[in-house]
Order: sequence, then structure tokens, then C-alpha cells
Amino acid sequence: MRYTHAITRRPGKEMAAGITTSMLGAPDHKNAMDQFDAYAKSLSDCGVSVTVLDPLEGYPDAHFVEDAAVVTPDVAIITNPGAASRKGEVPSIASALEPFRKTVWVRPPGTLDGGDVLMVGHHLFIGLSDRTNENGARQLGEAVAGFGYTWTPVPVAAGLHFKSSVNAVGNDTLLTTQTFADHPALAGFHRIVVSPQEEYAGNTLLVNGHLIMPAGFPDTRQKLHALDKHIIELDTSEFRKMDGGLTCLSLRF
Ligand code: GLY
Repeated sequence: MRYTHAITRRPGKEMAAGITTSMLGAPDHKNAMDQFDAYAKSLSDCGVSVTVLDPLEGYPDAHFVEDAAVVTPDVAIITNPGAASRKGEVPSIASALEPFRKTVWVRPPGTLDGGDVLMVGHHLFIGLSDRTNENGARQLGEAVAGFGYTWTPVPVAAGLHFKSSVNAVGNDTLLTTQTFADHPALAGFHRIVVSPQEEYAGNTLLVNGHLIMPAGFPDTRQKLHALDKHIIELDTSEFRKMDGGLTCLSLRF
């Protein structure tokens, strides 16, 4: 899919108060801003018009905008994030998307984080995780089914979100961690498997034929090199400290 737009949000000064399981220490806001600017520039270099929203006061995870919506070419599904502290992020993302798409909202008891949703062509893999429940997955699946999409729920046994572990790096090629390497739901796709010491690099982003990957993962870079795509490496250290990565930092459509 060719993307023309992306929505992003600058990290706020309170970003260290966000949810994290990482033991990598507190993020440095200045470094995070520099990394965010490089990220937004890379999206722009890939031919995408980038909207940059201001930090959302009181919501230290709000720059991980991907969790608040799932955007297809036909409709934007506004999520009900699984973490209580993140539910209030949703209205401002809905407002940002309304000029571009009709919106449909996931309602309780359904919960859904966009980070659990991988769209490949007209198919959605929907991770069932600590953030996304079966009801939320079904609401999303039913919302997109009317536009010709199919969907598969996939239990997420490792990592925060499904896309912490599995991402599309080509039309029929997925980059996966070893946990998902032989998962039957992914049969039919060519799979590139990241090595156990480079699992974080599974969160690589395909934008208009370019691969944006986290810096510092030479084995994965070498594996991706075989795809003959332009590779952009970005330092994501400050977002990694908050369990975030390249896909979470934007909504692309
Ligand atoms: N810090 C990202 C999240 O846990 O939602």
C-alpha cells in the first residue's frame, strides 16, 4: 500500500511517566525529541505528508499514536486502548483523522490497541494481548469486513503488541521474531526471522518501498538487505525505554 499521510505526536516532557516493562532506565526528553524529529523527517523522505500533533498533557504515552486507531483505505477504527491510562488519548486522534476518513469506534467491553493490528493487503492479523481482547478484535474485524477485509485473531504470547514481533517488509514477506516464525496463522507468507538477540528489530516499518529499522541490529539489517529495498536506520533508544518502537510512533495511511 502506498501511504500519502502520517499522523504523529511529539513526545511530552512527562514521557518517562508512561507505561513500561523495560529495564533500560528513564528516557531523556531532549534525545527523544531529536529521535522523533529524525523519524518524522524519514517519513517525509519516504513521500509521506506528516502531521505533527502537540504533546497531549496528562497522557505520557500519547506519542505512541498508532495504538489509538487502525486506518484502512476505507475507514478509521478508533480504538478503546487496553491500558486505562491511555483511553483518553483517543478523542484527539479521532479529530485528526476525521478530515480523512469516516470513523467507527470500538466500544467497551472491547479493548483494542492499534499496535496489535497488522494489515497486509486486505487481511488484518489482530493480536490478542494484554491490551486487545476478543471482543475488541471482533468489533474491528466486523467493521472492516464490510469493506472486503478478512481477519485472523492471533494470541500474543510475547512482547507488548503483535507488531512488537511481526511486521510486513514486503507484499508477501513478514519479519518475525522466533516466537511467531512457525505460527500457522502466518503460513503462506515468506518469513524472515530475527535472531533472539535482535528481537527488538522485529519492529521494522515498511513505508512506500523503504524499510525504516531501528539502528544497532546488524544481523537483521543484513537479512533485510536481501530484499533490495532502501534501508533507513534510526536511533530509537529513548522510545525503546518506554516499550515503544518505530511502528507505534505514527499512523500511516
Ligand atoms: N509505553 C507504551 C505502552 O505501554 O502502551
